[in-house]
Amino acid sequence: MPYSATPRLGFVGAGRLARCVSRAWSRAGYPVTAIASRSLGSARALADQLPGCLVAEDPQAVAARADIVFLTVPDDEIGAAANALRIEPSGDGARAVVHCSGATPVDVLAPVRARGGDIGGFHPLYLFGGVDGDLTRIQGCSVTIEAPSELLEALNGLARALGCHPLSIPPGGRMLYHAAAHYAASFALAALSETVSLWQQLGFSEDDALRAVLPMLAGTIETAREKGLAGALAGPVSRGDAGIVEKQLALLDGLGGDHATLYALMTRRAIELARRRPVPPSPNALAAMERSVERILDASRTAANVRPHQGVAQ
Ligand SMILES: NC(=O)c1ccc[n+]([C@@H]2O[C@H](COP(=O)([O-])OP(=O)(O)OC[C@H]3O[C@@H](n4cnc5c(N)ncnc54)[C@H](OP(=O)(O)O)[C@@H]3O)[C@@H](O)[C@H]2O)c1
Repeated sequence: MPYSATPRLGFVGAGRLARCVSRAWSRAGYPVTAIASRSLGSARALADQLPGCLVAEDPQAVAARADIVFLTVPDDEIGAAANALRIEPSGDGARAVVHCSGATPVDVLAPVRARGGDIGGFHPLYLFGGVDGDLTRIQGCSVTIEAPSELLEALNGLARALGCHPLSIPPGGRMLYHAAAHYAASFALAALSETVSLWQQLGFSEDDALRAVLPMLAGTIETAREKGLAGALAGPVSRGDAGIVEKQLALLDGLGGDHATLYALMTRRAIELARRRPVPPSPNALAAMERSVERILDASRTAANVRPHQGVAQ
């Protein structure tokens, strides 16, 4: 049987993600009927913003009042929370339990399925800050959904109610999907952190460096939106300036640490993009850049192999 067009929604966990999606769904006309959390205080603070929402003493009270229960707890808590729920799909309570993690397999909810309930994954590709701005900034993002057909339809509707695009993922694909997504969120921050720390060697303050790089990143994102990744690529690799790449690798190698290795690995990916440009750099330039990159990576591998022996000798 299909889910109602506006199923009753319940939450276990009143953190950053729940604070955004529960309020957005309530505003879109979905009844958010009950919220439980580790502390009653968090549940109450969120429920106060949701008309008709009960502050539940425990997750079972949420399951009794909702059609779909969202487990919006830290990933390590999802399995135990699911295990503790007694789902009776033939009664008035929950028919489905859904988690919002990108990495945790949906099968962690298997105890719910064993009791006849539907299980699913609903992962918004958005970095929730727990702030009011999340409600507007999430619009236009994608939500990766894994669920059996009737629940899938209901979750697709919930994604659209957030102003998001539903995206389907095959069973078992979450770990690879989530590992790859880091490059657009925390690894993008890690790359900016490398810029800031290298510029600090020139005397730039962190604030000045961030003020300089964030608009540059924003411009890069807009250009990628217009021209695709290969079309947006700029810098020495895009032009085939092999001499610059060689000199920058040598300079970073001289700084020690893993600065040159990181730059070489990123350059390797940039060379792949450059090959896909409408007018790629010359084959000679691409080959020269590849030689420079592989020289650094070979040296890095050799150093990694030598290090344990040095440790023993000391
Ligand atoms: N934040 C993001 O950017 C983001 C993005 C996509 C997906 N997700 C996923 O969304 C889920 C929630 O993440 P989050 O960032 O919203 O976490 P969070 O801000 O740390 O909030 C977690 C909430 O769960 C509650 N909680 C912890 N253990 C609990 C338990 N055993 N029983 C009941 N409630 C419990 C906490 O309670 P108290 O407040 O009462 O202490 C807190 O309200 C995770 O699976 C995460 O992977 C997060």
